Amino acid sequence: MCGIVGYIGNRDAYPILVKGLKRLEYRGYDSAGIALRNDSTQVYKCKGKVADLESHASGSDITGKIGIGHTRWATHGEPNNENAHPHKSMNGKFTIIHNGIIENYSLLKKKLGKRGYKFESDTDTEVLANLIEYIYRKGDVTAELAVRLALTKVVGAYGLVVICEDTPHQIIAARKGSPLVIGVGNGEYFLASDATPIVEYTQSVIYLNDNDVAIISEDELVLKTIYNDKLTPHIQNLELDIDQIEKGGYEHFMLKEIFEQTTSIHDTIRGRISVQKGEVFLGGIQDIIPNVVDARRIIIIACGTSWHAGLVGEYLFEDLARIPVEVEYASEFRYRNPIIYKDDIVLAISQSGETADTLAAIKLAKKSGATVLGICNVVGASIPRETHAGVYTHAGPEIGVASTKAFTAQVSVLAMMAMLVGRKKDCLSEEKYINLINEFYKLPEKIKSILEQDNYIKELSAKYVESPNAMYLGRGYLFPVALEGALKLKEISYIHAEGYPAAEMKHGPIALIDEHMPVFIAATKDKSYEKIVSNIQEVKARKGNVIAIVTEGDTVIKEMADYVVEIPETCEELAPLLTVIPFQLISYYIAVLRGCNVDQPRNLAKSVTVE
Ligand code: F6R
Repeated sequence: MCGIVGYIGNRDAYPILVKGLKRLEYRGYDSAGIALRNDSTQVYKCKGKVADLESHASGSDITGKIGIGHTRWATHGEPNNENAHPHKSMNGKFTIIHNGIIENYSLLKKKLGKRGYKFESDTDTEVLANLIEYIYRKGDVTAELAVRLALTKVVGAYGLVVICEDTPHQIIAARKGSPLVIGVGNGEYFLASDATPIVEYTQSVIYLNDNDVAIISEDELVLKTIYNDKLTPHIQNLELDIDQIEKGGYEHFMLKEIFEQTTSIHDTIRGRISVQKGEVFLGGIQDIIPNVVDARRIIIIACGTSWHAGLVGEYLFEDLARIPVEVEYASEFRYRNPIIYKDDIVLAISQSGETADTLAAIKLAKKSGATVLGICNVVGASIPRETHAGVYTHAGPEIGVASTKAFTAQVSVLAMMAMLVGRKKDCLSEEKYINLINEFYKLPEKIKSILEQDNYIKELSAKYVESPNAMYLGRGYLFPVALEGALKLKEISYIHAEGYPAAEMKHGPIALIDEHMPVFIAATKDKSYEKIVSNIQEVKARKGNVIAIVTEGDTVIKEMADYVVEIPETCEELAPLLTVIPFQLISYYIAVLRGCNVDQPRNLAKSVTVE
């Protein structure tokens, strides 16, 4: 969480930094700040969003060809002006921005306090600024060495950018655990937490690795480790298009991303599924497929929506490839002393590729000798670099904080993996395999037909805008979809919502049902259809409101439910990819009608780089 940007070159830094911060606001929007280097370093910062920062800085001197900026998701200290970044060290020598957490900050703070240091904020970042300054002033060291020495004393994670008053033509950047990308221009450099603020200026980027430090002036970049080992920068070409990160006429990124699912699913499967050849090919894990075929079990690790995709993966791998699967919250797994065998496959799923718990769980699994695979959306992020092999989802940048197209892309990759392994293991018949391949290709058209019901879905959503609670039900492959529907609603509309396997309702949640309770049910035609029809009857008998997602032409549920959204028929393994879409739209419209900021819901950030 937190977004950081930096610029050094011949242009005015301020507009570049502000635009970059707006692109990174999905990473946190509790406060924003900027530091501009002229004769001295000017800091402007305030509680609130980047737009608040712009008002705050307007009328002030915003010139400067070197600058750094920060948009914050609060960890240490509440969101207020004092805790906003950049932070200056006590004597003003260093100005820094930081994404991550300094875990031993309170010990360091105490030590610095004893040496006369005073603190203006509650942040761990100010402690780091003062630590750097303390080392700098104490010994005969350069600014760069002071930064490197300070970082050897720090426990935790950081993406860090530092300006020193004594080296006014230099920026120092460092990374451990929190991402940092450097854009290489012509006589200029751009820094950012991800490539979105950089893409319109240059396609050449360097992704910093853990323990890297970059010392940057406008015409030179020196890369080394914090231990002073010289490194050769690896300049890569950015595969990102500016159009992909703009709203393109939609009111919100979330709506744009929901609608993009016709193409994002296609992008995920393109070149990987061939109807002509009747085969699935996943280049990123091709060499590892024999390990998966022989795996004792698959352990899926993920958080949030990615965890829900993992649950669909459990059904898919068990059904199609007959491999036992456990789906774990990365945050629980990593602290539980889990039993991991060498012949386990650990499969990490993450849209951002930066989720701290998932990353730590991967490191733990690697230590146990298991093969660790990844499914990730952001190319070059930390998770794909940490795993042995993996598959990119290629859904394109997901900027809305609530995950939508990443979910369908993750489920698509999981389905392709399960099909591939199932076929290799001979547990999936040729006929079913070919049927799944053909169905995959029909999905974009089917999604389009669901999205065409947008107005109707908006109308029905309006009925539930005032509901304080909501329940989501599904069975089998659609149980994870119920969980995902509930998460979408609660995170953007702040309505309390719970997802359950439909049959579990009888074991407690049914007590909540009365005429005020909307119950959203994924009830397409599959092997549990009759059972879910009974569950709907149970809800109706208690006067609950039923909004059911049904297969086109279903007349049985239509008669019972208050509303139905009809979706095209598909095979049950791929049904989550269609049923989730009405749930995404319903959450979106309920939240918009409640006046909520759907792209930036309160307290959340897109990329959870803290535990
Ligand atoms: C919900 C949402 C989160 C993320 C979770 C994991 O809409 O976006 O629950 O799914 O924070 O993030 P990634 O997939 O980036 O690891």
